[in-house]
Amino acid sequence: MLGGDIKINRMGFGAMRITGKGIWGEPEDHDEAIRVLKRLPELEVNFIDTADAYGPDVSEDLIREALYPYGEIIVATKGGQTRQGPDQWVPLGRPDYLRQCVQMSLRRLGVKRIDLWQLHRIDPKFDRDAQFGVIRDMQREGLIRHVGLSEVNVEEIEAAEKYFKVVSVQNMYNLAQRQSEDVLDYCEKNNIAFIPWSPLADGDLSKEGGILDTVSKKLGATQSQVALAWILKRSPVMLLIPGTGKVNHLEENVGAAGVELSDEDFKALDKAGNDEWNKSK
Ligand SMILES: NC(=O)c1ccc[n+]([C@@H]2O[C@H](COP(=O)([O-])OP(=O)(O)OC[C@H]3O[C@@H](n4cnc5c(N)ncnc54)[C@H](OP(=O)(O)O)[C@@H]3O)[C@@H](O)[C@H]2O)c1
Repeated sequence: MLGGDIKINRMGFGAMRITGKGIWGEPEDHDEAIRVLKRLPELEVNFIDTADAYGPDVSEDLIREALYPYGEIIVATKGGQTRQGPDQWVPLGRPDYLRQCVQMSLRRLGVKRIDLWQLHRIDPKFDRDAQFGVIRDMQREGLIRHVGLSEVNVEEIEAAEKYFKVVSVQNMYNLAQRQSEDVLDYCEKNNIAFIPWSPLADGDLSKEGGILDTVSKKLGATQSQVALAWILKRSPVMLLIPGTGKVNHLEENVGAAGVELSDEDFKALDKAGNDEWNKSK
């Protein structure tokens, strides 16, 4: 349950990779991007994560082109990041800009209310309370149903909760990048969905003879599936959004929900991931 009233499957989809190189402009293969999106309901994926900044605009436009009206699908978007070119991202938390982000996402997606709107980054250049305040106002006005945060620490979640209920937190997290363990624990205790971005990155763990190679061969799964299965098993509040612009990768990733890791394999992966993380620090 997301926010106590939205029932979704824990295997969602990240729509950042259906744009051009550097998350800039149109995708190389428009038709394949549309096929990826249309395949989602067939695979029972009913949660899509996007952002106005993906493209910018391109990801939201493609989602509308492929899936409107959305039916059971929840389209979660974000705002508060500006784009200056490929791979360039600069947060902007000026309250009237955040309001513009929400208004423009509503128009692009063709909806009256955004089911989950996430603040892409808290902008350190602007008063944090003013950023939270305008989000609270937009929720009261009915433009936003639920609010999430991205790349935040526990203190920031607590500060935001004075203004609105935080229903999701989206931080980088995968086997080998564990800097958000305390945030994940906080989310678990407070029943907040934790949405790990970059879930497939794994440092050196995917090399031949490594832990992902060994476990995937034993289970007849792919390394990506094992990495995703580990994250799913790590916590019941985990909501996965692996990203791809290819139908075959989408099908493979969704298949991870069916990969059963034994407690022993889970622990071995956990330890190897932690070792990798400690090595990289
Ligand atoms: N909140 C934030 O600040 C933030 C930051 C980054 C991302 N995100 C969100 O998180 C989602 C996931 O993160 P991400 O896309 O960066 O990372 P990811 O899901 O870990 O990995 C995506 C990359 O892996 C490739 N890939 C996907 N499935 C694969 C498979 N089965 N086998 C081999 N390669 C595969 C993709 O390329 P192909 O297209 O070739 O498959 C893409 O290059 C994004 O889509 C976005 O919605 C949020």
